[in-house]
Amino acid sequence: MEIKKVAVLGCGLMGSGIAQVAATAGFDTTVLEMEQKYLDKGFAGIEKSLAKFSEKGTLKEEPAAVRARLKGTTKKEDLADCDIVIEAIIENVEEKKKMYASLDEIVKKTAIFATNTSSISVTELLTATKRAERFVGMHFFNPVPLMKLVEVVRTIATADEVYESAYEFTKKLGKVPVRTSDKTGFIVNRLLVPYLLDAIRAYEEGVGSIEDIDTSMKLGCGYPMGPFTLLDFVGLDTTYYITHVMFDEFKDQRFASPPLLKRLVMAGWYGRKSGKGFYDYSDAANLKANKL
Ligand code: CAA
Repeated sequence: MEIKKVAVLGCGLMGSGIAQVAATAGFDTTVLEMEQKYLDKGFAGIEKSLAKFSEKGTLKEEPAAVRARLKGTTKKEDLADCDIVIEAIIENVEEKKKMYASLDEIVKKTAIFATNTSSISVTELLTATKRAERFVGMHFFNPVPLMKLVEVVRTIATADEVYESAYEFTKKLGKVPVRTSDKTGFIVNRLLVPYLLDAIRAYEEGVGSIEDIDTSMKLGCGYPMGPFTLLDFVGLDTTYYITHVMFDEFKDQRFASPPLLKRLVMAGWYGRKSGKGFYDYSDAANLKANKL
């Protein structure tokens, strides 16, 4: 089936990035949010990002032309005739299920439902709808406009042609899809989460300082960011949540949250977004690790 009209649920960091990528790729894209102020915030981020690409000469047209394909709405009815719905709302099972159940009644029956969840079971989410065979995972990475990968997730109920449509669609977005199945964490988080948690454990055990562990993985392994920079970038609250879902699924110590991560989250130190995490972001030009 041909995908022409795209709907994105949520205009936060991930939703706005996905909407930007879809509109840049030429798709008419509508973003649903609960309130106009969230749309305004997300669209302001999109403008900034498009301006950067435009300055670098990597945008094929004027930012205004991309922007013209993007619409924001607070009414679910506006998504009725879209061909694919990509959900990127809060990482909460009940909220996501509620959203899918209400949209199932409104959006045309042939549309594909996709979720950008990083850790929640796609199979559990599809139970909120009557279109189990038309349901997939499409897991993007932050920052969406720059990161090439999309994990395309198949459940035991996903129809072959639906899966292939979603897979081909991610290519049209200019991304590189990989095939994976609905096993918690998929490919990337299955490998990334134990690595990030091990970095915290290594720090707790006095193996090295936060800065030295980061420098080691950057310069010793060629990673673009060290583990603590990446943890702060992803969000410590988000990581903490993911560890719980993964530990619950696998009952494996590799996915258990180290005490330090819990303490940081309890203190409200979520990383970059809250201004404090493993690093202090109050002086961006002079980034220092916190004494933990
Ligand atoms: N839009 C457009 N341009 C952007 C941008 C955006 N949203 N964000 C950054 N840029 C630009 C910057 O302005 C910069 O441009 P110049 O070269 O002109 O200065 C360029 O991209 C490079 O950025 P930076 O100089 O800030 O930093 P960098 O070279 O380190 O690249 C990065 C940034 C691509 C984020 C890189 O550090 C990286 O790949 N980091 C790892 C990110 C990662 O692992 N993400 C996945 C996290 S896990 C996840 O998302 C899934 C999950 O389930 C938790």
